[in-house]
Amino acid sequence: MLKVMTVFGTRPEAIKMAPVVLELKKHADQIQTIVAVTAQHRQMLDQVLRLFDIQPDYDLDIMSRGQTLYDITTKSLNGLRQVLEKEKPDIVLVHGDTTTTFAGALAAYYQQIPVGHVEAGLRTGDIYSPFPEEMNRKLTGAIAAMHFAPTSTARQNLLKENVDVHSIYVTGNTVIDALMNTVRDNYEFDDPALQRIDFTNHRVILLTTHRRENLGEPMRHIYKALRRIIEEFPDTEIVFPVHRNPLVRKVVEEELDGVERIHLIDPLEYEPFANVMGRSAIVLTDSGGIQEEAPSLGKPVLVLRNTTERPEAVQAGTVKLIGTDKQIVYDETKRLLEDFDEYSRMSNAVNPYGDGKAAARIVAYILHRMGSDIDIPEAFQ
Ligand code: UD1
Ligand code: UDP
Repeated sequence: MLKVMTVFGTRPEAIKMAPVVLELKKHADQIQTIVAVTAQHRQMLDQVLRLFDIQPDYDLDIMSRGQTLYDITTKSLNGLRQVLEKEKPDIVLVHGDTTTTFAGALAAYYQQIPVGHVEAGLRTGDIYSPFPEEMNRKLTGAIAAMHFAPTSTARQNLLKENVDVHSIYVTGNTVIDALMNTVRDNYEFDDPALQRIDFTNHRVILLTTHRRENLGEPMRHIYKALRRIIEEFPDTEIVFPVHRNPLVRKVVEEELDGVERIHLIDPLEYEPFANVMGRSAIVLTDSGGIQEEAPSLGKPVLVLRNTTERPEAVQAGTVKLIGTDKQIVYDETKRLLEDFDEYSRMSNAVNPYGDGKAAARIVAYILHRMGSDIDIPEAFQ
């Protein structure tokens, strides 16, 4: 039996690792699957665990209000040390670019356990943007023995850093696996707050913000710009599931509380969130995962950042990097609301990030590399 431990801690890691955990469990005759969560996020992680019916074997429960990068790193590292010493897995899988990801990879490295990096090879080239995610991803890549690159661009980034070509496999992004099972035309919202939104007669703008480098003034700029949009376009509504970070909530309340047609709601479960996205006209976000999901639903995305490690949809024309300047956020949103040609140009559904088979590729590759006679499926094109 091969012992595979997955380590994750935040909402996006959980969404993107859930398909991998479920796929590993399908191979219970060959693989013993162990799930360890740091719970760097608490409520937002639990929402995802519930949806995918995943019960962690280990839960470090590290989250604290106002946690620093030092808190997350040291608590995860020390907690995982004990879990790894006890379980001695054959391989540890981590995902992406959070501080849990890096600490998970480092904890495994200290015990000389090979690491598989899911969503490997994304780069902006700027170690302070996104911060600290670019560095988390690079450090994890330096430790990993297997690199599951979602796209050929990510593969190229790894090759430029002299990563062994034989350790890289282009799988597509597991977020598309998760999304494909989630968005449905006939989906009905249970939440009364979502039932009140007039998707038929209004153009709905979906907004999310949480990046550390956008905390404070950049977020204030974004909110002021969108408040002006709502006041000038009576046929629009904004749905804004507000991240639980108190630093985000404070500015949101100061700038947007009580504004008509702006719905400030708690973070949504993944299923209703994805279905709101499916019915929205425009998405404004500084999220990584949403930049990958929205293009496959044909939604124009304005990215509230100056850099992106996900250039594929920018090249395809459905995503535009606009930063956080108040005037630019206003102008670009207004343009999408007024310029029909621009709107239709950006609304093409494209799937540069995956085909829904990423988790199956990852698990087949692991089994193959660990000596099983299973074939490796063709890479994602
Ligand atoms: C983290 C990741 C970021 C990822 C994001 C996804 C790091 C350094 N950052 O950023 O890469 O894009 O998650 O959302 O790894 N909180 C709660 N409940 C929750 C979640 C968060 O109350 O379920 C609050 C806590 O007060 C916490 C704060 O939010 O201290 C910030 O959480 P943290 O994980 O440090 O940063 P994020 O901005 O969420
Ligand atoms: N998401 C969610 N509920 C919400 C907002 C986002 O389920 O209220 C999902 C979204 O579909 C995506 C992921 O969370 O899959 C993105 O998480 P986030 O933006 O927090 O992190 P990032 O991707 O930037 O690391």
